[in-house]
Amino acid sequence: MAQEDVFKRLVSHCKEYGFVFPSSEIYDGLGAVYDYGQYGVELKNNIKKYWWDSMVLLNENVVGLDSAIFMHPTIWKASGHVDAFNDPLIDNKDSKKRYRADVLIEDYLGKIEEKINKEVEKAAKRFGEAFDEAQFRSTNARVLEHQAKWDEVHARYSKAMNESDFEDLRQLILDCEIVCPISGTRNWTEVRQFNLMFSTEMGSTSDGAMKVYLRPETAQGIFVNFLNVQKTGRMKIPFGIAQIGKAFRNEIVARQFIFRMREFEQMEMQFFVRPGEELEWFKKWKATRLKWHKALGLGEEKYRYHDHEKLAHYANAATDIEFEMPFGFKEVEGIHSRTDFDLSSHEKFSGKKIQYFDPELNKSYTPYVIETSIGVDRMFLSVMAGSYDEEKLENGETRVVLKLPAALAPIKLAVLPLVKKDGLPEKAREIVDMLKFDFKCQYDEKDSIGKRYRRQDAIGTPYCITVDHQTLQDQCVTIRFRDTMEQERVSIESLQGIIAEKVSMKTLFKKLSE
Ligand code: GAP
Repeated sequence: MAQEDVFKRLVSHCKEYGFVFPSSEIYDGLGAVYDYGQYGVELKNNIKKYWWDSMVLLNENVVGLDSAIFMHPTIWKASGHVDAFNDPLIDNKDSKKRYRADVLIEDYLGKIEEKINKEVEKAAKRFGEAFDEAQFRSTNARVLEHQAKWDEVHARYSKAMNESDFEDLRQLILDCEIVCPISGTRNWTEVRQFNLMFSTEMGSTSDGAMKVYLRPETAQGIFVNFLNVQKTGRMKIPFGIAQIGKAFRNEIVARQFIFRMREFEQMEMQFFVRPGEELEWFKKWKATRLKWHKALGLGEEKYRYHDHEKLAHYANAATDIEFEMPFGFKEVEGIHSRTDFDLSSHEKFSGKKIQYFDPELNKSYTPYVIETSIGVDRMFLSVMAGSYDEEKLENGETRVVLKLPAALAPIKLAVLPLVKKDGLPEKAREIVDMLKFDFKCQYDEKDSIGKRYRRQDAIGTPYCITVDHQTLQDQCVTIRFRDTMEQERVSIESLQGIIAEKVSMKTLFKKLSE
């Protein structure tokens, strides 16, 4: 099946099975805003717990914070968001549709890459095992022609973006003959800068209301609380502050479901270190974070780093962890070495000294910062995409199954009485009552056992426990494993132990500590 179709099916699966709904759906929705349903919220909470505990439970020197969404507006001046958190916009005069100029050019570059890849694929098929891809790429005339075009456009695009040369950005769109996908015309306006922050008013107008912003990242709440946490927690450098919370960005090109949203959630950790030691810590956190992703078992080959060549003015190293979504490898997490930019800038704008006295060095300094920043929603999408499977069964039927990591699954086990009579429902309820304090359980007695198994497969429940007539005699049940569909007869007494081992986050945390 084409990847585009897989993605469409995943999106409708999310809705049909109560994971993600479009926001305000009965009013025809609100662009790039989504609600999480009964299973979605459980999965999301489990992802957050996996992240939170891996930060504050496994690291003695990482502590948590929950700062407010509204902050003093000068914070966003100091962070650079008021002046520089912009996207370049362009409108098509015929369709009246608005686009991000950089995205139009990146899509154009993507199409050239696709053409090159098609040539490579064709040649690989033709030459079979003897195919030397590197040689083909460096000698084939058509590939070289496409590559030269790509290099030329990319060089001009990077220069225009780096120098904020919006006239040339527009000219590049015209020169590449990029058309509006709706009107099909090249009738473009000028390129303008558009700030991504949402703002609102705080206080009544008669008092002189203050313009405040909905935070576009959670990180600044950590920076402005650096001294509060350091002093009250008696924290010694190196140490980190972790936070999970909502962030808001008025994204222009909001697409690909929950990948790019206007209201989303971030899990960020700022790690404060001695100046000069930041690149060593950057390397450590880069490795630690990739291990965290890979421990979920969705496939090692699905992750890759993308090191940034072009760095933000305040960073001296940056990398993304990308996951192979159905629409290609995409950023899920960023790891940035942000130098002392943020703390120094807040010191300057607030007029308050923000320094750390290092007792070992017997001197004060502004700490350097390594940031790990991951979007909860993108992580959610990567877990769903990596788990969604349509399996052809031996009987010809198709089984839709979410092979979610057991520790993240919304429901850990379903207890199913084989029939709705003869005391089986009561026995099944007894089992739920026994296990409900440890695991999120579901009781289901409706429809055939096969249909009930399918329902649980579709929401990713790792275990189904079936209670039959024999259970009443021997106190044993059938446990069915989601991924293999194998079944085993086990005692009711042993259920807690069997399930706990597989669904506990402890198993994941042990992998992280290896
Ligand atoms: N404090 C650094 C920071 O915010 P970022 O690369 O802009 O860095 C970090 O964002 C992460 O937040 C991204 O890797 C992504 O997972 C998530 N994210 C950013 N914008 C998003 C959006 N519009 N919708 C969903 N997730 C988003």
